[in-house]
Amino acid sequence: MRIAVIGTGYVGLVSGACFAEMGHQVICVDEDRDKVARLAQAKIPILEAGLEPLVSRHLNAGNLRFSTDTDEAVRSSEIIFITVGTPSGDDGAADLSAVEEVARRIAVAINAYKVVVNKSTMPVGSTRMVQRIIEENIDGLHQFDVVSNPEFLREGSAVEDFMNPDRVVVGSENQRPVGILTELYRPLNAPLIVTDPASAEMIKYASNAFLATKVSFINAIANICEAVGADVREVALGMGYDRRIGFEFLKAGPGFGGSCFPKDCRALIDISSHAGYTFGLLEGVMQVNEEQMSLMVEKARKHLGALAGRRIGVLGLAFKANTDDLRESPALTVIAGLLEAGAQVTAFDPAYHANAVTPPAGAALAPDAYAAAEGAELLMILTEWDEFKWLDFRRVKELMASPVIVDTRNCLDPQVLRRMGFTYEGVGR
Ligand SMILES: NC(=O)c1ccc[n+]([C@@H]2O[C@H](COP(=O)([O-])OP(=O)(O)OC[C@H]3O[C@@H](n4cnc5c(N)ncnc54)[C@H](O)[C@@H]3O)[C@@H](O)[C@H]2O)c1
Repeated sequence: MRIAVIGTGYVGLVSGACFAEMGHQVICVDEDRDKVARLAQAKIPILEAGLEPLVSRHLNAGNLRFSTDTDEAVRSSEIIFITVGTPSGDDGAADLSAVEEVARRIAVAINAYKVVVNKSTMPVGSTRMVQRIIEENIDGLHQFDVVSNPEFLREGSAVEDFMNPDRVVVGSENQRPVGILTELYRPLNAPLIVTDPASAEMIKYASNAFLATKVSFINAIANICEAVGADVREVALGMGYDRRIGFEFLKAGPGFGGSCFPKDCRALIDISSHAGYTFGLLEGVMQVNEEQMSLMVEKARKHLGALAGRRIGVLGLAFKANTDDLRESPALTVIAGLLEAGAQVTAFDPAYHANAVTPPAGAALAPDAYAAAEGAELLMILTEWDEFKWLDFRRVKELMASPVIVDTRNCLDPQVLRRMGFTYEGVGR
């Protein structure tokens, strides 16, 4: 099939490369000219395992192209995926301006029957909205269908997730595009949920809100564990064996972040309030999350007292391991809190080498973990990168001004560190 993917970010680039891998002819479009020029040379702007070889191979084979020309991409494709960003607006609602802009462009370029696919995360009613924008701007009598096909990939394992989805969701009012998307996704052998557009749109928000709820729930439990002398890791293990609960997303930490959970929770709260329902549960989830980040700053205060002028080393900036995405990273919020209290922060993130990770204003960036620890009175782990587990902690201790570790990801062994003479503090243990 001939496929256009409009918006070449985490979702669009991965989707485009994977569709090419599945044997289709793909054009990935982005308005960012620099990005498109780099991609055309197989220079990947994001850190994502397995993506670079896929892009290189299909660029060379000629079945993957990068372009800034939306019109040409629409004209030469049968299926058009919209994968532009839908960030939070000032009121928490999803900002759909990029989607609207793309829909208008699609409308003027349509030259034959097309399936337009909303893959970006968009509020309930967006399938109809895109349909309406195209109808209002279309030139001629060409037919088209708009469907919702939300994406569930995780950054850090996006290629793997795209190729092995737990399910594929298609929301459509008509049968014709469902047949086409069923054919497209058939090789992935995933359960296919065909439903109406509103339900498809809700599935995405409800899924992310539920996962965020699990995170805030276990963080709240962690805070109680600290007060009563229980270990949240043992508690989560004991809960997780219950198949009705499961182990996933029950890791206590500094709070959730990233480009999806916070914005999608805010958007669902907004969708809900417009529908006349106050989603107090989800408001609570967001509140616990914000408090959790502040609690990490309190942990530093507990060990150092007033933070003004104190030197704190930070390991990790990304919102989770194996990605370079800093959007709404809890690490940035915690660092901002430390800086606001007057601390001097030196941070290291492994993705710093791979991509241009910029530190939060006011924090210094270290070239490696040991440089971040040098002279620090406290070392705080804010992202669970595997390599932090394997540091030479004897060397870390020698480098630090005082051996205090706050492990907000519970990724280190407290007993080993305490035996080495560290003061260790985790979350909920
Ligand atoms: N990142 C994830 O893990 C993830 C997972 C599932 C769903 N989503 C959803 O997918 C959507 C995209 O997310 P992302 O993280 O890939 O975003 P992103 O910010 O990484 O990428 C969006 C891209 O769209 C481009 N763009 C914006 N306006 C454009 C226009 N008018 N024409 C052409 N290109 C344009 C931008 O330049 C950018 O490259 C969002 O709705 C997000 O919620 C993201």
